[in-house]
Amino acid sequence: MKREQWKSQSGFLLAAVGSAIGLGNIWRFSYMAYDNGGGAFLIPYLVALFTAGIPLLILEFGVGHERMGSAPLAYAKIKKNWEWLGWWAVTFVMFGVVLYYIVVIAWCLNFFILSFNLGWGNDPNSFFFKDFLSVSNGPSEIGQVRAPIFVALVIVWFLNWLICYRGVRRGIELANKIFMPLLFFLTSVLVFWSLTLDGAIVGIRAYLTPDFSKLSDPKVWIDAYSQIFFTLSLGFGIMIAYASYLPEKSNISRNAILTGLINSGYSLFAGVAVFAVLGFMATSSGETLSEVVSQSIGLAFVAYPKAVSLIPGGNLFGAIFFFCLVVAGLSSSISIIEAFTSAMVDKFHLRRKPFITLISILGLLGSTIFATQAGLLWLDIVDHFLTHYGLVAVGILECVLVGWLFGSKVLRNHINKISSIKLGIWWDILIKYFIPLVLGIILVGDLWQELSQPYGGYSWSSLILIGWNWVVLTLIVGFVLASRSWKTEHHKACGRSQG
Ligand code: ALA
Repeated sequence: MKREQWKSQSGFLLAAVGSAIGLGNIWRFSYMAYDNGGGAFLIPYLVALFTAGIPLLILEFGVGHERMGSAPLAYAKIKKNWEWLGWWAVTFVMFGVVLYYIVVIAWCLNFFILSFNLGWGNDPNSFFFKDFLSVSNGPSEIGQVRAPIFVALVIVWFLNWLICYRGVRRGIELANKIFMPLLFFLTSVLVFWSLTLDGAIVGIRAYLTPDFSKLSDPKVWIDAYSQIFFTLSLGFGIMIAYASYLPEKSNISRNAILTGLINSGYSLFAGVAVFAVLGFMATSSGETLSEVVSQSIGLAFVAYPKAVSLIPGGNLFGAIFFFCLVVAGLSSSISIIEAFTSAMVDKFHLRRKPFITLISILGLLGSTIFATQAGLLWLDIVDHFLTHYGLVAVGILECVLVGWLFGSKVLRNHINKISSIKLGIWWDILIKYFIPLVLGIILVGDLWQELSQPYGGYSWSSLILIGWNWVVLTLIVGFVLASRSWKTEHHKACGRSQG
């Protein structure tokens, strides 16, 4: 079976950017910048982008292109007994990250509709936690499935199914060609509109005024590296699968640099709208900015609706904001589904269309737990464990596999042969030494924190049963899938650099 290919290089670039730009760019980045020294955060953020984000993106694009395969196939072609690593990555994103990620998109879809008549009323905080989510007392108290969330969930899974079902060119590439320009246009509308609001400058100042004293705090640096890692979809197996659909002659390093820069540029730009609106809200309610800012989920679903209710014509503003989140979320969720599908098709020779249907139904069922009254708590725990341990561990092992076992020089030569921007020895040093070291420090720091006090105030049993189990079970599934025999001959083929 011939491997499907992107119609154009720009189609690939838009799809990679679409995967990178997601829910996290719009509010997680803004909050992180604010919390970690405002304008000064840009220093560790950009250092992380250039020393880890872009080099790893080059690695993932390079491996996918050279080995011509999804993550498990590409790794198996490097070292047979490392196939499990690829399976682990695509399994925990498919049976972990995407399950709750799509639920958050479903919340956004609900809030998009609620925006039209400011349906969250006068107290968005109570509306979100009590009326909308109806959060239970603890993770073990599952309660009922929340009907409005479930209905939106079905719609969002349907859209994901539809796009992936149509294939790489007619589905994913086409969707991103529509989504990305639409997202940039609508975000620009929000940014310019927000700048006309009274007090916008108060927010912008808080967002961008540098507090350099924060730079000596290791947490700020850890946050910057973690943010870069998640936002560029590194360690998900996505960028490897996407690059495997590239033709022989492809500008790997330039595409990686552009993806990294566009993604971060978008975060910075969207942050202006977030903070201008918060500045407006603080000014109109006579509060300080620190009183109106809240963390990630609270920022989007509590602080923002509050502000939207105060803006003249705010319904439209709110609708555009939540619509942007839906679009940004969809372009990322389809990429996760593709990473897993591509791996299964590569290994088991499955027919793509029926498989996409099956996986979407299973995905909907799996997501349902996050649409219950305990959903928010489960989401918080699973997200914490998978992103802090799964992704970071994959990142470190990926550097070991490619940097040391495959040889970063071999991959660099392949990339340099076809790319306009040539990589020097500095890239090998980053991949072999610097990135594993930094990620290792983050991992150990997180583990230390984990053991010293239970995350988020949850009981140890919930954290072990839900969080750790999720990490371990997906790892076991990874090993099981790797142990099955190949139903295709792909793994026997050489890479592109070996003819
Ligand atoms: N990269 C995607 C995001 O930032 C997963 O949401």
